[in-house]
Amino acid sequence: MSAHFVTSTGTDIGKTFVTAGLIRYLRNAGQPVNALKPVVSGYDSSVVETSDPAVLLRALGRQVSADEVDTIAPWRFRAPLSPDMAAAREGRNVDFDKLIDFSRAAVKSATGMLFIEGVGGIMVPLDGKRTVLDWMAALDIPLLLVVGGYLGAISHTLTALDVLRQRKLTIAAIVVSESERGTVELDDTVASIARFSDTIEVVGLPRLPGGLTEHPAFARIASLL
Ligand SMILES: Nc1ncnc2c1ncn2[C@@H]1O[C@H](COP(=O)(O)OP(=O)(O)OP(=O)(O)O)[C@@H](O)[C@H]1O
Ligand SMILES: [Mg+2]
Repeated sequence: MSAHFVTSTGTDIGKTFVTAGLIRYLRNAGQPVNALKPVVSGYDSSVVETSDPAVLLRALGRQVSADEVDTIAPWRFRAPLSPDMAAAREGRNVDFDKLIDFSRAAVKSATGMLFIEGVGGIMVPLDGKRTVLDWMAALDIPLLLVVGGYLGAISHTLTALDVLRQRKLTIAAIVVSESERGTVELDDTVASIARFSDTIEVVGLPRLPGGLTEHPAFARIASLL
């Protein structure tokens, strides 16, 4: 059990959903866990409850207060754009070095499992030069790669794997979080990705009906971390 970076092939795939499910699973198992969502775009301070930091804080059993949100998600931007663009709209920027320092300090001080959720996909720009990939490379902690089950997800996943291998990043597990209205069988997507992913385990997580946050897949994923 250690720190993991939760990344994805794109936005709205299931990073937060999977992280929250894992947090709940680990807490139920009596294991210490923490989570960060350092960079958030599309953050509307009048609708905090549905934001990623709020979802993670609730899973952690913590209050969704301004202080707690600040603690786990210091870089928040209003526009639902890539962080570099969203920050520019506010005359701000994501200070890459500060982001790395913040993340490294959290990894260093973590006492149990720590999840750091990225933002959007693997190569979303953070500033004019750096993307999430550079953030992950700087931290060099194992990744949890969350992908979708929609038609096209296999190609997106294999493209991501190729890029991550080039940067020599370690992938602890791949989670296929079944997409809404997907037309491909989840098991077929899992089997196909597994054929291309060498020894990396691929776990399928079905689309869980409204409000449900528990599934045996979370135990399987946790066992791989
Ligand atoms: N397996 C699943 N079962 C049910 N709902 C899911 C599942 N995976 C994702 N969702 C839902 O899909 C939506 C998008 O998922 P989520 O917010 O986790 O994406 P994300 O990758 O974290 O996006 P972002 O890039 O904005 O952080 C959410 O409403 C989430 O609850
Ligand atoms: Mg998210």
